Amino acid sequence: MKTNVNGMEMAYEILGQTGYPIVLIHGFALDHRIWLEMGSKHLRNHRVILPDMRGHGESDTPNGAYPMVLMAQDLAHLLDYLQVNKAIVCGHSMGGYVALAFAAKYPERLAGLGLITTRAHADTDEKREGRYQMIEKVRERGSIAIAEALAPRLSHDEEIMRQTKEMIVNTSPQGIIGALQGMAERPNRLDLLPEIEVPSLVVAGKDDQIIDLPDAREMADALPHAEFLPIYGAGHMPMKEKPVVLAEGLNNLVKRVKGFH
Ligand code: MLT
Repeated sequence: MKTNVNGMEMAYEILGQTGYPIVLIHGFALDHRIWLEMGSKHLRNHRVILPDMRGHGESDTPNGAYPMVLMAQDLAHLLDYLQVNKAIVCGHSMGGYVALAFAAKYPERLAGLGLITTRAHADTDEKREGRYQMIEKVRERGSIAIAEALAPRLSHDEEIMRQTKEMIVNTSPQGIIGALQGMAERPNRLDLLPEIEVPSLVVAGKDDQIIDLPDAREMADALPHAEFLPIYGAGHMPMKEKPVVLAEGLNNLVKRVKGFH
């Protein structure tokens, strides 16, 4: 499905029309399909909202940079359209950066927060420089430059690597460049965490090659109502690598939100 938000067509899918609204935001250069199998099998009792963020999946690809806060605004407009006032907002990696931007900008609309293989730190200078170099490579060679560099780091599982590589190759170069610029410029959100007074879940993959476990633990320690869920046998893609374990954490989060005052 698609709707017009913030001057662009935004694509999304919803699993389950009743139940508590829970948003799952995909990571960089991927799209909502990463959640489909886990969501349809294991999150059946909720209204699961799966957006394609700008520049990704079937959504439009506007020119320019995509600050995380702009993507959070896209999401808020999508929720307006869906008549969802408050939701549990969960994000994977770059989606986690967007979820944190949403928590900062729309605290009154946040019922719960899920941070899945992501971090609250801003980029180091080195990391930021790496993103600008990547932008040049994407300009020269297209999305394949990112697919080759990123897919092998997402998971050790050959099939997951194949699927994610295909998704990245099908993400437009402008979408990738806009997101890289937005991630490079994002602020540090560590100071925000103690102010997030709703139930939260922090998920880490023990074999994640992109997010360090101590960074995830630091977030969980700083959040007032966090559950920390480190997953053995998972890398950066627990929704694909360990869907049952991740879904259990998410189902628990919904339960905690419902019982929270
Ligand atoms: C992601 O998986 O969303 C990105 O790799 C995160 C990042 O590059 O910081």
